[in-house]
Order: sequence, then C-alpha cells, then structure tokens
Amino acid sequence: MGKCAFVTGITGQDGALLAQFLLEKGYDVHGGLRRIGVIGTGRLDELGILDQITLHDFELLEMTNIQRVIDTIKPDEIYNLAAQSFVGASFELPIYTADVDGIGAMRLLEVVRSSASDCRFYQASTSEMYGKAQATPQSETTPFYPRSPYGVAKLFAHWSTVNYRESYGLRASSGILFNHESHLRGREFVTRKITLAFAQIAAGKQECLELGNLDAQRDWGYAGDYVKGMWQMLQQPQADDFVLATGITHSIRDFVKAAATFHGWDIQWSGEGIEEIGIDRKTDRVLIRINPGFYRPAEVDILCGDPSKAERELGWTRDVEFQGLVELMCESDCRRVGRKTSSF
Ligand code: NAP
Ligand code: GDD
Repeated sequence: MGKCAFVTGITGQDGALLAQFLLEKGYDVHGGLRRIGVIGTGRLDELGILDQITLHDFELLEMTNIQRVIDTIKPDEIYNLAAQSFVGASFELPIYTADVDGIGAMRLLEVVRSSASDCRFYQASTSEMYGKAQATPQSETTPFYPRSPYGVAKLFAHWSTVNYRESYGLRASSGILFNHESHLRGREFVTRKITLAFAQIAAGKQECLELGNLDAQRDWGYAGDYVKGMWQMLQQPQADDFVLATGITHSIRDFVKAAATFHGWDIQWSGEGIEEIGIDRKTDRVLIRINPGFYRPAEVDILCGDPSKAERELGWTRDVEFQGLVELMCESDCRRVGRKTSSF
C-alpha cells in the first residue's frame, strides 16, 4: 500500500500542486480544509483531483482540531503549507498572522511530538526570513533579518521546527523556499496580478494596472518544481533544512516587461516615484500607474537564493525558467479571461 500524506493548506497554490504530485506517486492524500464562508476548492477542481483526495475540516488556530485530525489520519508525512501567506496583509493582521503562521506550526509540532509517531514533517519556511538580506546569495547559513510580521512569524515556525528536531528527534525538515509562482497563484501576489490584469486589458475589460514598488527584486521559480523539492526533503534519511531557489533575480519591472512582450506591447517607463507610468511605445497607451497604497511599511528589496545544497544532496532540478514561467501564467490568464470561469 502507498504512503499516507496529510497536506495542510491543500486548497492553496502549493497544496494543490503537491497533492497532484503525491497522487502521481501513489500516495493516499489527505488535506486540511478551512471552514470559511466560501469553500475554496477551485484549484483542486481545476487540476481534476478533488475526488481523489480525502478532505478534513482543519484549522491551525484550534489545537483540539489538529489533534483529532492527526489521530484520525495517522499520516506517514505531514506537509504544513497552511498560512496567512500574503506579506502585505500581515502588516494589517500581525497578531492573526503570528497565531496562524507561527504558533500554528508549533501546535502541529506539539501534536506530532505527543503522538510519538515516526511521521515525517515538512515546514513551509520562506526567503522572507532573510528580509534585509545580510549576504547575497542567501543560503542555509545566511543570518535572518525579517522585515514583516509574516517574516517574523515564519521565523518562529522555522526555529520551532529546528528545535523540535534537535530536542525530541522529530523527523522535521524546513524548506526555505524563494518565491514560486504558477497558473494557480493567488491574485493578490504581484506576478499573478500582472498576468491577470494584462489579460483583462488585452480583452478590453480593464483600463490599466496599478502597482507599488517596481524596483523590488525577487528570485522567481515555478511552483511545480518546488513541490517536488518538498517531497524530496522528506525522503532523506536525516531531516534537515534546504533552500529552494533559482539563483537568478528579476525586478518587478522585468516581470512587467516580459508579460507585456507576451501581449505584443513594448513598455517604456516615464516619470519618477509615484508619478512614474509605463507606456506602450507603439500605441502610447498608459498600461501601468503607481499606487502608493501598494507600498509596504518595510520592504524586502532583493532576494536571490543559493540552491546548491538542495541540488547536491536532494538531486533537485528545475524544469521551468523565468521566461517560460511568465509565458505559462500569461497564457493561462488569457484562457481564463476568455472563459470567465476562474474562482481564484
Ligand atoms: P496560499 O496559496 O496562500 O495557500 C495558503 C493555504 O493555507 C490555503 O489553503 C489556505 O486556506 C490555508 N490556510 C490559511 N489560513 C489557515 C488556517 N488558519 N488554518 C488552516 N488553513 C489555513 O499559499 P502558497 O503560495 O500555496 O504557499 C504555501 C505555503 O508556503 C505557505 O505557508 C507560504 O507562506 C509558504 N511559502 C510560499 C512561497 C511562495 O512563493 N508561494 C514561498 C515561500 C513560502 P484557504 O484556501 O481556506 O484560504
Ligand atoms: N502583491 C503586490 N502587489 N506586490 C507588489 C505590488 C503590488 O501591486 N507592486 C509591487 N509589489 C512588490 C512588493 O512590494 C514585493 O516587493 C514584491 O512585489 C513581491 O510581492 P508579492 O508578490 O506579494 O510576494 P512577496 O515576495 O511579498 O511574498 C511571496 O513570496 C514569499 C517568499 O519570498 C509570498 O508568496 C510569501 O508567502 C512567500 O513567503
């Protein structure tokens, strides 16, 4: 019989892609479903895997619920992907974010510890923990300096994972993942915001796109490659921490330009600060404006990861590079805008 995995945050981008990956590997896949107003299984539907997964009511804020779910499933592997994952929102919801992303991970670790099982545990850590980066590129040994309540909460969860491994021998690994995107990315994140808005503009359904800080730089990879790395981490004989990244960084401007090129637009930047605009050189149409409402109280200016440990020890490889990523997201949003069907 195949192994049994429990994925928290299965309705999110990574959760849905990881569930698909694990099903292909023959796993019995269980997922945590949050009881909110609207049941958000749109991604699992889109991948056509909803009926192959066993869903459980799951809430990271509620210890008794976590205990019952883990006791019921008795998984071989737990992937803790659930989180309030939007950095921007964490400045408005700092205590909630700390509770879900920080203490939530510790609740889960406590349940695993008290179950005395041999279950393997994956914690979704993040390059946001590097924040005001102390060295470039960032590796497993680079000091952390988080710049948002989200980064601080995730750092608590990261060190809790390390601490439970060292204190109680839990087979707990932490994946320090740099930004990864896909056609299933949430609309609030800048890449998807750009690809969706450009598809709408091309279809005549939106005037222009408002963005915040265009100069921030991120190390963007393809989420499908990253969920494979999560699984590889849990197949190792010893639990450990690994960076997953591409080692190549691009600015928001670069992403805008690449997505615009997909639509046949040639972006020229004009003006400065909040007056800056992005114009299509051929038609003089203003496609981008700045809205300072999207600036953050503290910014992470540049992230660039060093994935060499994961490449060396896990054999981790990537199939999709930056240009391919932009194109697949643009294509997907053009199809969605044409069909008008997407719920996320
Ligand atoms: P996502 O699309 O925002 O998904 C987050 C998931 O967490 C959703 O399924 C959400 O459920 C669930 N969730 C939120 N609050 C919860 C709660 N209180 N109890 C139970 N479930 C809850 O995020 P993602 O991009 O897939 O990222 C997956 C994980 O990796 C997150 O922990 C994120 O912080 C981390 N991470 C992501 C990246 C990246 O670039 N994508 C990089 C590094 C680390 P609903 O569907 O009900 O909202
Ligand atoms: N969301 C958003 N919207 N970001 C904008 C905008 C805008 O209109 N304009 C500029 N940005 C800039 C942000 O200021 C930030 O510097 C950068 O674009 C990326 O923002 P997001 O796409 O929201 O991602 P993030 O880097 O803050 O966080 C993502 O990656 C982390 C890993 O480094 C999330 O997926 C986190 O959950 C993840 O941990």
